[in-house]
Parts: sequence; structure tokens; C-alpha cells
Amino acid sequence: MIDTLIQDKKKMPLNSIKLLDCSCGIGTQTIGLAKLGYNVTASVLSRQAIRRAKREANKFGVPNVKFKVADFRELERKMKEKFDVVISFDNSLPHLLTEEDLELACRNIRNVLNEGGLFLKKLKRGRVIGHSHSKND
Ligand SMILES: C[S@@+](CC[C@H](N)C(=O)[O-])C[C@H]1O[C@@H](n2cnc3c(N)ncnc32)[C@H](O)[C@@H]1O
Repeated sequence: MIDTLIQDKKKMPLNSIKLLDCSCGIGTQTIGLAKLGYNVTASVLSRQAIRRAKREANKFGVPNVKFKVADFRELERKMKEKFDVVISFDNSLPHLLTEEDLELACRNIRNVLNEGGLFLKKLKRGRVIGHSHSKND
């Protein structure tokens, strides 16, 4: 499903699409997308989750995923590159409890996207919501 949504918007070869999963947890979406051929970086708040996600990525044959411990409120500072697609699945953003924190996370996500980049998020039981980043955002 994520792949279909991305391909619908991004007419580029998969391995040239730089994708950040900014709430990767133990790597469910990360691993699936890396297996399809996306160029994936994965981050999450918890160091423990990153350790587990690395183990899972190795187990599932995608050792080339780049992993980083990062709060989604500080992506801009932590990431040294920009991405064509950022995803946040499984109701991760609602872990933030104030409007200020949510705004900060959204600003950070926007600022690590390339011009024309795509942000996909999935909240609890919801459908996937996509936003395209343009200069006027
Ligand atoms: C439901 S889990 C996501 C599961 C993930 N998609 C997976 O496949 O494992 C929500 C994740 O959001 C992470 N999270 C919560 N607050 C965060 C924050 N401020 N920055 C980054 N990640 C955060 C949690 O550590 C947790 O791994």
C-alpha cells in the first residue's frame, strides 16, 4: 500500500528514492520498503528499538538500511541529508501530547523533505494521509 502511494506520486526508480521512516520502531515498514528496493533511512526515539530493528533488518536480508536514534522533533539537526519521502506509521505522531510538540515535529519533517517531497502518515485505524512539500508550505 505504501509502495503504491509512493509510486503514484514519484515517477522515479525505487532505488533512487531516498525514504526516511521517522518512527521505525522495530522496522516493520522499513524492512518491507527496503526489500522492495527503496533507499531507506530509519529513525526512532528509542535506542533499544533501533538495536532490534537492525537485527531484524539483517535477519530479513536488508543490511544496507541506515539507522539513527532521533526524536522526530529534531530530525533537521540529526539528519545530514534530505529525503524524497518521509513516513510515520502506526499512530506514532500522537505520542506527542502538545500542539507545540506536534508543530515542531511537522516542521522538522517538512525541513528534511526535498522540494516536492512526500510525507505519509498513518494514525490509529485511519487511512494513510499524504502531504506534498512545496515552497509555499
Ligand atoms: C506504534 S510504534 C511504531 C511501530 C513501527 N512502525 C514498527 O513497525 O515497529 C510507535 C513508535 O513511535 C516512537 N516514538 C514515540 N515518540 C517519538 C518521538 N518523539 N520521536 C520518534 N519516535 C517516537 C516509539 O518509540 C515507537 O517505536
